[in-house]
Amino acid sequence: ANVFVNINDLSNQDLLSIIHQALLFKSGQLLPVMNKQVVANLFFENSTRTVTSFQMAEIKLGYERIVIDPNKSSAVKGESLEDTLKTLKVIGVDTVVIRHTLRGWYDNFCQMAGKEIPKLINAGDGNGQHPSQSLLDLMTIIETFDHFRGLKVRIIGDIYHSRVARSNAEILDRLGANVTFAGPKVWSDPSLTQFGHVVDMDDDLEQQDVVMLLRVQHERLTDGENAHFTIDQYHEQYGLTRARYDRLKDQAIIMHPAPVNRGVEIDSDLVESPKSRIFQQMANGVFARMAILNSLNTSVLQKELLK
Ligand code: CP
Repeated sequence: ANVFVNINDLSNQDLLSIIHQALLFKSGQLLPVMNKQVVANLFFENSTRTVTSFQMAEIKLGYERIVIDPNKSSAVKGESLEDTLKTLKVIGVDTVVIRHTLRGWYDNFCQMAGKEIPKLINAGDGNGQHPSQSLLDLMTIIETFDHFRGLKVRIIGDIYHSRVARSNAEILDRLGANVTFAGPKVWSDPSLTQFGHVVDMDDDLEQQDVVMLLRVQHERLTDGENAHFTIDQYHEQYGLTRARYDRLKDQAIIMHPAPVNRGVEIDSDLVESPKSRIFQQMANGVFARMAILNSLNTSVLQKELLK
């Protein structure tokens, strides 16, 4: 493949193979074959986890990496993304990891990837998709439950603005999980209800296997939208409070893509509670991103190891 832009484009077999590879990287059972790929990292939107773990993955794979600051690049002078990508290709970049505010920034480039422009990895496009987050989330679920079929997954919060919700709802539904959504009506997204019902936050909490909290995305909200709740109101109505935590079954897990608004989506004391997988998700991000990069550049030897 020359692109990794939307997790829902992968077949179940390819998806499970990449997760398997990520788990092998994590356990040390699969050691990368060093090949001198050159990867450029171009983040037009802020990031801590995604940008750092892609770079850590590149280091662990032995790739050469280039970090481009968009604010100091010629994008500021008005150069188009297409010309930027063509430029990186002729300079010698093999793969480019991009986060962009524009939903679907990659739509016009997939056919060109690996030819006129570098191979493409989407590190988040506006409120569109976040496929590498989705992969690390699936990896984290597999580590706990070893399957997806029949798992009850509740996705809670700012669904409308969330690329994490969009990526995960569709793929989890396809993999056989039972997805439900909860959160403020004003942030619901009718286009996602084909993948799960909208329910009340407190319905059947005792039966959920995965409680997936979403960040309130202040940067994507208008002033009017921000005015819907105070922090305390949001936390009480839609946050994971201690009382709600205590209703969860012992085996349930709590996920959040982070950064976390402590005291808003989740009581600060619960971020590192026994049921929380939030920091495990971040750690898994390195191995998931190694597997993603590797899926675009798999050498023959590695394919042999995976058989
Ligand atoms: N989860 C996530 O994408 O975090 P960053 O925005 O810090 O990369």
